[in-house]
Amino acid sequence: MAYQLLDGRAVAAQMNAEMADQVARLCAQGKRPPHLAAILVGHNAPSEAYVDAKVRACEKIGFLSTLIRYEDDVPQRQLLDKINELNHDSTIDGFIVQLPLPPHFSTDKVIEAIDYRKDVDGFHPVNVGRLALGLPCFRSATPAGILELLRRYRIPTQGKHCVVLGRSNIVGKPIANLMLQKDYPGDCSVTVCHSRSQNLHEICLSADILIVSLGVPNFVRHDMVKQGAVVIDVGITRLPNPDRPNGFQLTGDVLFDDVATHCSFITPVPGGVGPMTIASLMNNTLLARTKAVYP
Ligand code: GUN
Repeated sequence: MAYQLLDGRAVAAQMNAEMADQVARLCAQGKRPPHLAAILVGHNAPSEAYVDAKVRACEKIGFLSTLIRYEDDVPQRQLLDKINELNHDSTIDGFIVQLPLPPHFSTDKVIEAIDYRKDVDGFHPVNVGRLALGLPCFRSATPAGILELLRRYRIPTQGKHCVVLGRSNIVGKPIANLMLQKDYPGDCSVTVCHSRSQNLHEICLSADILIVSLGVPNFVRHDMVKQGAVVIDVGITRLPNPDRPNGFQLTGDVLFDDVATHCSFITPVPGGVGPMTIASLMNNTLLARTKAVYP
């Protein structure tokens, strides 16, 4: 069956161009461009790459960015003090603390210390709660990116069965909530599965829309996918590959070549959900600058 690629790179480029236009308009009115700050603790290689991509995206769109780095052994108190400082800094519209944090941190405490009005990651309990209630909020960037991809490809969602594999706070839980809401994209019947789920193959086979966020490379194969399904692959694991210049290759949770011919639409890895996540973070930062979510 012929499938269509959900080209996250192309859609993100389109979003970035639209945001760059909005920044130009702000600046023409004599206003300051949006300003995103990112806190990075330690030297986790994927985290370094993500933060670097976020800073580069800011530069491309015309946002200001500030990167704040700490070594692995920075005391939690010092990080909380910096968060408090950023909360009160009127020149910063939004900021993120890149996760995961080293084990001596309480991630919950760190996230709760962020002013929810500057929480452009949408991780603070106020934003998570408002998302669950369908109220205006900062939406976690990966789920927001998935919705935007479905919207821009005009994929029908109303009444469909959406199966989400994975129950993380960052992706699984919020995307399940959003796909459930009476909205477009959304209005689905939603099933959330995880590592303990029974009858996983059977449930996946009944999915019209399958969103996979397990972090298990090549987990989904053709025998789990209904003919004509829409498959969204959130996985991005670095698998060693000595033939690549950087020594690794990004691998999704879906075995693409095996699954694609069963699909109507499918995201590639890389170039699917990843660029959409970054574009959505930028969009949240623009919303923070224009006070469009919390006036
Ligand atoms: N780690 C993995 N994804 C994310 C994200 O979207 N935001 C932050 N802050 N950390 C992450």
